[in-house]
Amino acid sequence: MSIKLGVNIDHVATVRQARQVQYPDPVEAARVAEAAGADQITVHIRMDRRHIQESDLVALKTAVTTRLNVEMAATEEMLLIARETTPQQVTLVPERPGEVTTEGGLDLSQEQARVAVGAAVRTLQGLGIEVAIFADPDPVQLEGVLVTGADAVEFNTAAYAEADSVADRDAELQRLASAARLALDHGIFVAAGHGLHYENVGALVDLELFREFNIGHSLVARSIFSGLDAAVRDMKALLS
Ligand code: PXP
Repeated sequence: MSIKLGVNIDHVATVRQARQVQYPDPVEAARVAEAAGADQITVHIRMDRRHIQESDLVALKTAVTTRLNVEMAATEEMLLIARETTPQQVTLVPERPGEVTTEGGLDLSQEQARVAVGAAVRTLQGLGIEVAIFADPDPVQLEGVLVTGADAVEFNTAAYAEADSVADRDAELQRLASAARLALDHGIFVAAGHGLHYENVGALVDLELFREFNIGHSLVARSIFSGLDAAVRDMKALLS
């Protein structure tokens, strides 16, 4: 079974925003990623717009030839952006102002949250957008995801990726495996992501339970070192 790769290109926009210039362009990154085999381009539009901007979503919607998956909080402001850009998929994530990165799955343990997120799911689906929910690998959270009527669940692999002992890592792997099995039993599409890199993805692949991974940081980090050599050589050539 081949697993789909969603390439998260937020960090490309982070570098651009650091200088407030036009490059590097996330659209160009999306093209390179797709040419290299990416099955989906994933971006996160944050309340503080620290990397991806609305204009990026508009440009990516036109340029992406696979699928555009936009991660966002389930707020009125974000639902309006989804309405204006209609990506193929929205992944609903929690957002705490000031957080460095997404800190966990959406908490759907309470009825109130399930009702509110369920309404957002229906709004998005009504626009023809598929909806995934980022959730911790926990049966109660999965139950919440199912109640909302979402099309897919993306299980949060952060605890697995950040485990600092073999025992903890194995326990997290088991937690992910049982949550994924339960989700598949309910017929929902099962993805995973957060903190995945070249050393830790293999054990998840071996489970043969996940249909898609969304990966960003490790891909962009690696591309610096696979590309820096040529970048320096090209500049040196101009100076000689
Ligand atoms: N999935 C979700 C829901 C995320 O919020 C993120 C980070 O934006 C990722 C996947 C990608 O995580 P990483 O950058 O650690 O690979």
